[in-house]
Amino acid sequence: MKKKIIAANFKMNKTDEDIKKYFAVFLDRINGLKNKTSFNDLDAELIFAPPFTALRETHKIIEPYLDFMKLSSQNIYFEKSGAYTGEISIDMIKSCGCTYAIIGHSERRNIFKESDELTGKKIEAIYNDGGITPILCIGENLEIRRQNGQEKFVERQLAVGLNCIKGRNVSSLIVAYEPVWAIGTGIPIKADDGEAMHKFISGYITSNFSIGEFRVIYGGSVTEANIKELMDNPHIDGVLVGGASLDPQSFYNIFKLAAA
Ligand code: PGA
Repeated sequence: MKKKIIAANFKMNKTDEDIKKYFAVFLDRINGLKNKTSFNDLDAELIFAPPFTALRETHKIIEPYLDFMKLSSQNIYFEKSGAYTGEISIDMIKSCGCTYAIIGHSERRNIFKESDELTGKKIEAIYNDGGITPILCIGENLEIRRQNGQEKFVERQLAVGLNCIKGRNVSSLIVAYEPVWAIGTGIPIKADDGEAMHKFISGYITSNFSIGEFRVIYGGSVTEANIKELMDNPHIDGVLVGGASLDPQSFYNIFKLAAA
């Protein structure tokens, strides 16, 4: 059975000191849970994506829990090394303990003008390197949703983003479907519309690519209030949480509701 993915994207938030305070609370809750049930029974995996500067500190803290807590970077650059001021390589994030990397987040695409093609190069570099599972973010904006063009739009993002794995077997992939209009707006997708998109994405991927373990998770205004309704759908394999992951109690509540 596929494990559910409950991922936290801290974005540009939290210093090492903040991370220490966060996990003091979060792990206290998790340890309370351990008394009642074993982590293996939880059937869920937690992924934390702190900023680059807090990767090592986060890894140090979650090390005893690595069987179900994993570390992700929020980005990578596709070159191995060289004159790329401000960028970070796959080897660098691996050396901090990452086993995942978020690629093509809509904030990268919209604010930093990252194209589908650049996203595709990053995915290719990750698969050529090995050892990291990409979390490929896709999703339409409001204009496209209004015109009912969301399927065509994400299909192109997937076709270009995953072009490098056409005709090739890869072991794992997470796709995060994050409609731009739902990110940070407090307006999540309706569960039925979410399920329809996840089903579409899942169908497109299984008929075009060969991936050992692949999951489609949802992102965009996920909270304690809507997590259950979202996770009740068969094609929603987990969530990527931004704003509501910044508070340890609220992220723990989301995790508990999703993993139950
Ligand atoms: P949000 O962000 O939960 O704050 O909407 C989600 C994301 O950008 O991954």
